[in-house]
Amino acid sequence: MQPVKIAVIGGSGLYNLEGLEFIAEVNPKTPWGHPSDAITIAKTEYGLYVAFLARHGRGHYLTPSEVPARANIAALKSIGVEVIIAYSAVGSLREELKPRDFVLPTQILDRTKGIRPSTFFEDGLVAHAMFADPFSEAVENVIWEQRGVIEGGDFHRKKTLICMEGPQFSTRAESHMYRSFGGDLINMSVLPEAKLAREAEIAYQMICMSTDYDCWKDHEEAVTVEAVVANLKANTSNAQRLLKAILPGVQAIVENGTAVEGLKGSMRFACMTAPE
Ligand code: ADE
Repeated sequence: MQPVKIAVIGGSGLYNLEGLEFIAEVNPKTPWGHPSDAITIAKTEYGLYVAFLARHGRGHYLTPSEVPARANIAALKSIGVEVIIAYSAVGSLREELKPRDFVLPTQILDRTKGIRPSTFFEDGLVAHAMFADPFSEAVENVIWEQRGVIEGGDFHRKKTLICMEGPQFSTRAESHMYRSFGGDLINMSVLPEAKLAREAEIAYQMICMSTDYDCWKDHEEAVTVEAVVANLKANTSNAQRLLKAILPGVQAIVENGTAVEGLKGSMRFACMTAPE
């Protein structure tokens, strides 16, 4: 099979790719175990192969803390992936980012609790990857160009995403604190996924789909699972439509090399451990 250079990771509410021809299902065993679920490989109408992986499993049985992120990224790397488009439901910490809006984050604030394995480099092999800009500008630009396909919501870019541990949502005090930190959005999933993609030299961009206002609005009801699920369902058709629109542009930057410019080979210079 040809290498599959583009992968989509689906978050809550996005468990498959619509409208593409099914080619195969693979479930590679990596040194970090199996991925969250089998990876579906599908073909677009113009012959491009795309991989899809459901982050929480297709039946949604993995909590954010349980997602085997190292196995997921290693499995995608093993089939040739160079670009990951990662979808995630998020809470909004800003009035202007309304539920059902789509948002492209540029920065991350890590509020996970250090319990998620977040590097491939340990046990005698030390490397320090650069992570100042955690997302791919090239992929972000391609997505932004297609923002017009979203229906019933607005599209925003250049926002800061807080990643918390969960699975419980935040307290009101925490929600206010995250706003004071400069956070615009909050989820439980961008880390360690984005860090591991960087270590694997894979270009990574998250597409955030806002489902709720978390609980910082003092006189309003705090985030409920019911509200999140209702907005998730509404977001799913936009997510599928957006994906269809961006794939040709993503293919173009994979083919001309700009998707992995500055990434390919970067870990060679990040490794501190002396070769044997
Ligand atoms: N995912 C969706 N909404 C969220 C919220 N309010 N906090 C954390 N993760 C979320």
